[in-house]
Amino acid sequence: MILGIESSCDDSSIALIDHKNLELKFYKKISQESIHSSYGGVVPELAARLHTQALPALLDEIKGEFNRIKAIAVTNEPGLSVSLIGGISMAKALSISLGVPLIAVNHLIGHIYSVFLTSKARFPLGVLLVSGGHTLVLNIDKEAKIEILATTGDDSFGESFDKVSKMMSLGYPGGAVIENLALKGRDEYKFTIPLKGDKRVEYSFSGLKNQVRLAIEKSENLDDQTKANIACSFQKTAISHIIDKLKIIYDKHKFQRFAIVGGASANLALRGEIEKLAKKYNSEILYAPLKFCSDNGAMIARVGVEKYLKKEFISLSELQVRPNLNLKKAR
Ligand code: KG4
Ligand code: ZN
Repeated sequence: MILGIESSCDDSSIALIDHKNLELKFYKKISQESIHSSYGGVVPELAARLHTQALPALLDEIKGEFNRIKAIAVTNEPGLSVSLIGGISMAKALSISLGVPLIAVNHLIGHIYSVFLTSKARFPLGVLLVSGGHTLVLNIDKEAKIEILATTGDDSFGESFDKVSKMMSLGYPGGAVIENLALKGRDEYKFTIPLKGDKRVEYSFSGLKNQVRLAIEKSENLDDQTKANIACSFQKTAISHIIDKLKIIYDKHKFQRFAIVGGASANLALRGEIEKLAKKYNSEILYAPLKFCSDNGAMIARVGVEKYLKKEFISLSELQVRPNLNLKKAR
């Protein structure tokens, strides 16, 4: 079996996948969300401390399976360096004690493989990756080579939900909170869609965040219905922005298969709009099961299986924390 370890942000998670049949043998995640919630975002120092408690506790649960582990796959990029260190240190120590090789996994490649958890990976594939840290549209060719087609110049899609939630004192993370609140609201604010009519094929969410800030400042009474209306208008505009640029990209690339991945891919309103778009192009849409949209060790173990079969191992000294995004070298 391949062990997957994920600790790039505020979730500690491990999983065991049978490399012969992709069966998920063990999966568990300890989320720190409720602890960071009162701060309105992830506090790195606190995240690091919590990983050092959670990761060994998770490992303890699978000690009966140690002798079946063939390789250890661990997220080493991108993410919060102080969080990544926890997973990497544990992976290295275990690799030495069990005498099994290490596999470095890019967190974003992990999200992409979350749609292939139990099936063979199939490329070419178009991808929308929407998480707390990234908003990317990717074209992956049949050799699994990745081309970035669009990204954000400022905030990410998920991050904008977190910030809007924080502005209305609704806690962290904001994604599910805002999505649920939007269901009770009306689109009364009619915010401007970012970069509408602009030729640039890129995303920007900070202007929309400021429109929300102004609406909050102007409202005399920020009661529940007002909050719901703001959530509704914000979400509608953020999704329209995604779709607006995705239409241009779809027109050019005409993806036969398209995956929506990352924590914010759990958003059902977003899924619905992308499905409508994909229908026009006869494009098949792939999602991860809801449980595996957000950060998890299973997607890391799944990439681990792929790399194990190709013998793409990494030495103790080469395995380093790489906090920044670098998809060029990623596979
Ligand atoms: O992939 P993920 O778990 O962590 C990162 O790699 O960043 O994504 C977390 C992000 C958070 O910003 C969270 O608010 C957002 O995904 N998110 C959502 C929803 N569920 C989670 N955003 C919008 N709608 C949701 N339902
Ligand atoms: Zn993620």
